[in-house]
Amino acid sequence: MRRRWLRRRCRGVRGPAMSRLLRTGLNAGEAAPMAVVGGEGVYFHLSDGRRLIDGSNTGGGLGHRHPAMVEAIRRAADTPVVNEGWTWVGREQAADDLMATAFGGEEDWVGAVRFCISGSEANDMALSLCQALTQRSALATRERAYHGITGLSRSMTVQPQWHGGLAVHSGGSQLPAPMAPVRILPAPNGAIYGAPANNTPPSEYLADATRLLSDTAATIIDYTQGGIYYDGAYQDEVARRARQAGSYWIADEVVTGAGRAGRWFAFQGAESRPDIVTLGKSLGGGAAAVAAVVVSKDIVERLKGTSWQNYGTLRGHPISMAAVSAYLKVVSDDKILDHVQSLEKLFIRRLLAIAQKHPSVQRVAGQGLHWTVELHGPDWRTWHADTTEVPIASRVAERALEAGAVIGTSGEQTSLFLAPPLVISEHEATLLLDALDHGLDVADEEHG
Ligand SMILES: Cc1ncc(COP(=O)(O)O)c(C=O)c1O
Repeated sequence: MRRRWLRRRCRGVRGPAMSRLLRTGLNAGEAAPMAVVGGEGVYFHLSDGRRLIDGSNTGGGLGHRHPAMVEAIRRAADTPVVNEGWTWVGREQAADDLMATAFGGEEDWVGAVRFCISGSEANDMALSLCQALTQRSALATRERAYHGITGLSRSMTVQPQWHGGLAVHSGGSQLPAPMAPVRILPAPNGAIYGAPANNTPPSEYLADATRLLSDTAATIIDYTQGGIYYDGAYQDEVARRARQAGSYWIADEVVTGAGRAGRWFAFQGAESRPDIVTLGKSLGGGAAAVAAVVVSKDIVERLKGTSWQNYGTLRGHPISMAAVSAYLKVVSDDKILDHVQSLEKLFIRRLLAIAQKHPSVQRVAGQGLHWTVELHGPDWRTWHADTTEVPIASRVAERALEAGAVIGTSGEQTSLFLAPPLVISEHEATLLLDALDHGLDVADEEHG
């Protein structure tokens, strides 16, 4: 009965013309996204009865309806409504749990955390704090980065199709005004397949970075966006240059933090340690909207004698705090990081084989359980999503649905990414990779 009701209801909202919702989406084009009516483990349940593997969901670290998360949220629903201005024991507990579990071993430098609601908000808070501390306004990121779409994080998102403004379907864009001068560092190559041969050390291609960063308040780098992944040498060089220039270094670990990289944080793959780490997405196990700004001891010291006048009513809400504590416990108790590391090997092996089989694949890159498959086609720099035409990557994703998996594109034209729940089994991961393999046939047909 309930299923019939859901089916009727979802049929009603399927056509874009019928919907009262201002939609946005990962896969570009006009087609209304599939209607999800439920989920279990790594599967989405659709209104038409299909069960599809959730293959690109950076917010859903533990998949759907994880029993520990359901139980934590159920209990937290029975707590008072406490805004960020009041002390809440669960918030103190979540801060302690984050420090003891995820930042265990990082005690030398890590200082304190402020929780918030989204990755965009966390980055905006971190960037504006650095502007206040340095009294500089310019900010730096690396090529093809995405850091969010509100406040200063929007200005630091330099993928041409994501700007927070309007992509006009007949061509062109109407952009909101930038909020800060933006400096862009060169990105590294880091692909496991298809990267141009380049043994240039980062110290050479970042040789100009100290000058570029000299008037910046902060340098923010993330570890996945635009399909760009890198090794420790890149991070260490950026960190060194930022220090020389008096620019705070922010590690945007909104995607990679809390497990997806196969360790607690991607920055742990290098020597350098950030001034600020931003977290979000999976931090609440996908069960609550929660993010965080973690600052170093040095920054805590700098904040002495001041109050950071930055506040949000629903930040640190009892439900999201319960979700953080529960998520950290599951990742730790169930040895999820080891599981991600072992699946990383499967992804490398299968994606290399897939790339070699499909002539349409230009490049494969990734780490842990975040992987990008970039197709041959127009340069990403020219893509502004200012058309209703469905780009090639979105058509590959459509074809992969037939084979039982949901795959996203980050809104890019030629680039798909895989980021399944960290609890995905080897068998389910194989099904997801099979679906990608099937989807890529569309791209091969067009590639000729
Ligand atoms: C690296 C990175 N930083 C920040 C964000 C923004 O997070 P949110 O969408 O939760 O605002 C994203 C979102 O995709 C991201 O990939």
